[in-house]
Amino acid sequence: MDSIPIDSTDAPINLWWQRDDLSFHHDRLFLGQCDLSELASKVGTPAYVIRAPRVLEKLNSLHSAFDKAGLDHRIFYAIKANRSPKLLTYLASQGLCGADVCSPAELIQALSCGFPEEDISFTGTSLSSQDINTLAKFDRLRINLDSLSALERMGQASPGREIGIRVNPDIGIGYTGNEMLQYSGIEATKFGIYLDRLPEAIALAKKYDLKIVRVHFHAGCGYLNRELNQLADVIAASKAFTEALPDLRELNIGGGLGVPHTKDDTLLNLDRWAEVLADAFSGSKLKIAVEPGDFLIKDAGILLTEVTYIEQRKDIEFVGLNAGFNLAMEPAFYGLPCEPVPTYLSRNETRNFTLVGNVNEALDKWAVNHPLPAPEEGDVIALINAGGYASSMRSDHCLRGDVKEVLLLK
Ligand SMILES: Cc1ncc(COP(=O)(O)O)c(C=O)c1O
Repeated sequence: MDSIPIDSTDAPINLWWQRDDLSFHHDRLFLGQCDLSELASKVGTPAYVIRAPRVLEKLNSLHSAFDKAGLDHRIFYAIKANRSPKLLTYLASQGLCGADVCSPAELIQALSCGFPEEDISFTGTSLSSQDINTLAKFDRLRINLDSLSALERMGQASPGREIGIRVNPDIGIGYTGNEMLQYSGIEATKFGIYLDRLPEAIALAKKYDLKIVRVHFHAGCGYLNRELNQLADVIAASKAFTEALPDLRELNIGGGLGVPHTKDDTLLNLDRWAEVLADAFSGSKLKIAVEPGDFLIKDAGILLTEVTYIEQRKDIEFVGLNAGFNLAMEPAFYGLPCEPVPTYLSRNETRNFTLVGNVNEALDKWAVNHPLPAPEEGDVIALINAGGYASSMRSDHCLRGDVKEVLLLK
């Protein structure tokens, strides 16, 4: 890139999200080497765009943090965050991570994109007997079972195998404490075996000669630096499980590592994160596994949309986009902040707009009172942080689910 990214102090909008590979050059927004408004005119909108090398940078940064902390580790990419075959094939070819899957169909997707069976970790929930019988056929799959019932049925289908158990540490964690993002906490949740039923799990394993070699938990999603003390508490709570299992080789701490969503968030400090793990585990023989989705993929992707109209209604100036909440559900479902960014930085007056989508539902709002240089119809707007849980959760509501997908390799 031959020009210098725009200086945040001159910009008509807050560029808190700007980084080396996502920035304005001569007022045009680039993701890697790709001019996003030019891409939109070639492929059309709406379009998901993922920059694959960003995912590798994130993977390498995680490996480095683990190495620095002296922790034996494994990384499994949670494909539920984005299961695009192009992306998975790319990641499988790089050899930096395995895959975390949560259903038999995700298992087949990961295998068919090139992840070897022994590099795939399975943690699902509410498994049917058909699910169990399918999974039992894969004897090198690293399967983690999350209920006594699943343990019993797996024991019957595949006695004598090595397994992991998903446990519930009874403490949750999530972006800004958002309760909807916490998988564990005050009320009982469906995720994993609680400590009071661990003896029953051990007895079932013994009955079917299953060897429990892994403990797994996933306490919630989107945590950043302010939540690291809570992570330490979750890990401390997991010790009651790990200490009761003599054959244990691995602790899988799930995913949940977050990315910034607003100017008030800071990047997760991976060295501090790894220190929390090292404080608990250095000196132990356990391998630490992690299965991030969002951390690896979310900020590598954007959703390109086009402005359909701009209109004043009462005291609100609306900007309509040709993409609805069905294409990136987290803002509507979980209240996660969404950041619409112009792909061309005009010098029009910056005002506050409410950005809405093209689906006939009242919750179809991207952002309220969001500052933008006044856009025009046909302008291309990028919704950043759309790499994770956008395409994978999309629906075809109102038959508005047809979207292009582009994988950038530079
Ligand atoms: C068991 C498990 N592992 C990993 C993940 C990935 O989480 P994240 O994308 O927040 O890292 C999830 C997300 O729901 C999960 O349920």
